[in-house]
Amino acid sequence: MPLPARVKIVEVGPRDGLQNEKAAIPTAVKIALVDRLSDCGFANIEATSFVSPKWVPQMADAAEVMAGIRRRPGTVYSVLAPNLKGLEGALAARADEVVIFGAASEAFSRKNINCSIAESIARFEPVARTAKAHGLRLRGSISCALGCPYQGEVRPEAVVDVVNRLAALGCDEIDIADTIGVGTANRVKTVMEAAARVFPIERLSGHFHDTYGQALANIYAAMEVGVAIFHSSVAGLGGCPYAKGATGNVATEDVVYMMQGLAVETGLDLERIVDAGQFISAHLGRKAASRAGNAIAAKRAA
Ligand code: HMG
Ligand code: MG
Repeated sequence: MPLPARVKIVEVGPRDGLQNEKAAIPTAVKIALVDRLSDCGFANIEATSFVSPKWVPQMADAAEVMAGIRRRPGTVYSVLAPNLKGLEGALAARADEVVIFGAASEAFSRKNINCSIAESIARFEPVARTAKAHGLRLRGSISCALGCPYQGEVRPEAVVDVVNRLAALGCDEIDIADTIGVGTANRVKTVMEAAARVFPIERLSGHFHDTYGQALANIYAAMEVGVAIFHSSVAGLGGCPYAKGATGNVATEDVVYMMQGLAVETGLDLERIVDAGQFISAHLGRKAASRAGNAIAAKRAA
């Protein structure tokens, strides 16, 4: 199958990227990051999470972040909402899309959202119904689709089962997430093809953490089977608080650089993404975890 002519890159840095940072990040910095990313042309930015501040303290200022950002026409601003309380926050904040997030592994489901897979689906049902009734887009995310930090192997059938359940809730898009970045190219193809047998491939996305350095290869493999939506995090920020040792998502700069080389359209301004990555890395006091971003920044300085 030829590669897609165009892909949608969902920027998840402000949420997945920042949620795991230990030191409190000022709300103004989060807002400035989202605004800078909006200027890059993203069609979709995951801005924050309406989750329990006891579980993820860094996202406690979700309402303030949403109130402070500048909305670029044409950009969908998404937020995570694991329950009705989260959805109330999302509605009050005028989010465009809510993300319900489950897992293909029972053990991870319990660690991340404190309930079984079946309980999570029951909990998402009113969230999905109410979100739809308010005209919001609905996305479902499936953690540990390529492996679990607690149970190890995750069978493709377990992923397909959760895809079916999220599809039944009316999800517009479903994310196949490699939470701990253990997946490799052939396995990614197998899981994507299995998921695509029960859900339209145009609405499936790849959310790959880069812990084992496989994420770009996994994106390429997923494109070879027709996937055209990918998540990435500016400067490679991130990691999941409930997946020890897992590093950030694949860096947006690296993904966009690869797409440019492949002549796959993204609609994004790479130079501005590099600026946004350097901005947040300077704030965090460390070098960006993006090879392309750092190379471009170094070339500019030379
Ligand atoms: P729980 O403790 O079982 O639920 O948590 P609870 O209903 O008993 O609530 C506990 C307390 O939290 C209560 O406060 C609630 O009011 C409050 P208290 O009465 O004790 O003062 N609370 C909330 N506060 C604000 N907003 C809310 C909310 N809900 C409850 N929405 C719960 C269950 C799901 C809430 C909790 O486990 C939770 O918030 N988990 C979130 C975990 C999380 O955010 N993980 C990271 C994001 S997922 C991810 O990174 C993976 C992804 O990137 C894909 C991938 O890479 O795999 C998407
Ligand atoms: Mg993630």
